[in-house]
Amino acid sequence: MRTQVCIIGGGPSGLLLSQLLNLKGIETVVLERKSRDYVLGRIRAGVLERGMVGLLREAGCAERMDIEGHPHEGCNLSTQHGMFRIDFKSLVNEEVMVYGQTEVTRDLYAAQDRIGATVIHDAADVAIHDPKSDAPYVTYRKDGVEHRVDCDYIAGCDGFHGVSRQTIPTGVRQEFERVYPFGWLGILSETAPAAEELVYANHPRGFALASMRSATLSRYYVQVPLSDKVEDWTDQMFWDELRRRLPAEVAEPMQTGPSIEKSIAPLRSFVCEPMQFGRLFLVGDAAHIVPPTGAKGLNLAASDVHYLSRALIAFYGAGDRQGIETYSATALKRIWGAMRFSWWMTSVLHRFPEASEFDQKIQESELLQLEEVESARRTMALNYVGLPY
Ligand code: APR
Ligand code: PHB
Repeated sequence: MRTQVCIIGGGPSGLLLSQLLNLKGIETVVLERKSRDYVLGRIRAGVLERGMVGLLREAGCAERMDIEGHPHEGCNLSTQHGMFRIDFKSLVNEEVMVYGQTEVTRDLYAAQDRIGATVIHDAADVAIHDPKSDAPYVTYRKDGVEHRVDCDYIAGCDGFHGVSRQTIPTGVRQEFERVYPFGWLGILSETAPAAEELVYANHPRGFALASMRSATLSRYYVQVPLSDKVEDWTDQMFWDELRRRLPAEVAEPMQTGPSIEKSIAPLRSFVCEPMQFGRLFLVGDAAHIVPPTGAKGLNLAASDVHYLSRALIAFYGAGDRQGIETYSATALKRIWGAMRFSWWMTSVLHRFPEASEFDQKIQESELLQLEEVESARRTMALNYVGLPY
């Protein structure tokens, strides 16, 4: 088989890239290791920056998001002094869209189906060959048969555990990482959200977040030690702990009910440089991971897709190689901005087991500054709604 761009991974990065390229007449083949149901079974964050919202509209798959998504003009921070609001609208005249990543992925699959794009599921043993040559190709196995895709370019959209990043030789690749000493225990429950907007809480017992998917579906998280196991947490224990950490005005009226999903995720910051090697480009989680505080994971994937799709469209349309040559540097500049913000939000909102009393005082002072200084809130709002592309 021959295509112009072979895309490895059918998560949000791969599907959005495929959709944007196809709409401009560029041929793609998406190779996904898992089944569609498996990909759609993953539950992840649900806050979309304006840039991502714009890309979904451009990709022709925003119809349901525009009806069912909830624009939010602010979020709340809770500290030992009480709760205060970061008003995105008044601070930076922007909003975010609350709409789950699972729904985004579902809409992207539907859009790919509508235009007849090639998405191959259950593709095993995907391997990248000759990325530094002018004739790269990708091989995979399906139903016991070996296949080969010849292409001009390869987009590695295969997430943190994929093969694409590993294809870049260790002598070329540099990795930057911070692992945090805690995880997030999250649940999804068919209950009305506890508050109209998200509530991020810094509490002596640890961080908590009240989020939502819709008027009848809530998503909540509490910070837990890495040694905790999800089986150790009954629903009742979760609700009791969440109630202790949220401010009383949110916790007391909060509806509780059985969890329909419960999991623990570790927190990590990770960046791979460079994000391109010959004709291979890394996109999304394949190149970087952020802790979920600030909900930047999916949005960063979207900005990579923005830069790479523009670059490939300029190349195929006008022979312009500039975007292709500078993809890694352009994408990384914005990625480090979001890395800094996610690290900062994680640092100010969590309780670190090794923190000294001095560290604790600094954290409290940082939160107080946010509460009292408008320019500090504006900087936070600017980053939360998303730095421009
Ligand atoms: N071959 C083919 N497909 C692969 C391989 C492989 N060797 N390894 C992984 N994949 C697939 C995974 O099954 C997954 O569907 O690549 C896809 C990668 O999807 P994600 O992990 O969702 O990564 P990405 O598309 O970059 O999405 C960005 O935003 O909110 C964050 O981490 C969250 O998923 C999210 C991300
Ligand atoms: C979520 O709704 O899952 C969510 C929202 C905001 C975050 C992280 C996760 O910062």
